[in-house]
Amino acid sequence: MGRSQPRPASWSQARRALDAVVSSSHATQNPFLQRGHKGGWTFGDVRTFGPEYLHWITAFPGILAKGVSNARDDDTRAFLTEILFEELGRGRREYRHSNLFWRFLRDLGVTYFSTTPRLPETRALIRGMGDLYSHRRVATMLGAQYALEHQAVPMIASMFAGVRPLLRDITRTDIMYFELHTASEPLHARVMRRCIARYVGSPADTSSALRGARGVLNLITNFWDALNRHCTNATCLPSQEEDVAPRGRRLGRAG
Ligand SMILES: [Fe+2]
Repeated sequence: MGRSQPRPASWSQARRALDAVVSSSHATQNPFLQRGHKGGWTFGDVRTFGPEYLHWITAFPGILAKGVSNARDDDTRAFLTEILFEELGRGRREYRHSNLFWRFLRDLGVTYFSTTPRLPETRALIRGMGDLYSHRRVATMLGAQYALEHQAVPMIASMFAGVRPLLRDITRTDIMYFELHTASEPLHARVMRRCIARYVGSPADTSSALRGARGVLNLITNFWDALNRHCTNATCLPSQEEDVAPRGRRLGRAG
């Protein structure tokens, strides 16, 4: 089952290529996240991106489960399962990551959500990640997960910087979602290096891993760019009244 030993020379080249893809990606260098990083988000921005982001992270455990099933060695399965268990709150519903983010949104006054994503880019992100995580080439799945974890470090930092100025006037805000990910994402990114190294031992494997990395980063880029278009054009900024529009409903606890 699986490949017992990585091939260091090929892996070091593949690692450089993967890291170059991640570091040059617009997934973390897009205008929307950059504005957040500079503390320029408004409540309207959060009301716009928050529910879409919630749909994404609510779907993520199911997507990651496909990756667990797709892995071919027990060390990788164990690590992906560990992440999955964390996502699901280590068995405690209130600590599911989707519930942590839902509580954060609720504290900011965002309490109504559409039952399905409003943006086609959100639906494409969820569907596309599902396809990548069940890809017949395991290196493609792991390339996607590698890129996801590595882009998550700057993404969470930008999101936290973006919401911080908005919290000053709020008496109670649950920011566990951000604190938890700020602590865990760097470790996930490091361990993912060991996992994917087992599967990248040839140019073909490298190409597969890069395909997965580029695939997920493109989907994430499209997601943030779509949100930026809506917020910039002010066509999708719901007012408080629109937050309770008939097509939305109280979602209750996500996840
Ligand atoms: Fe998470």
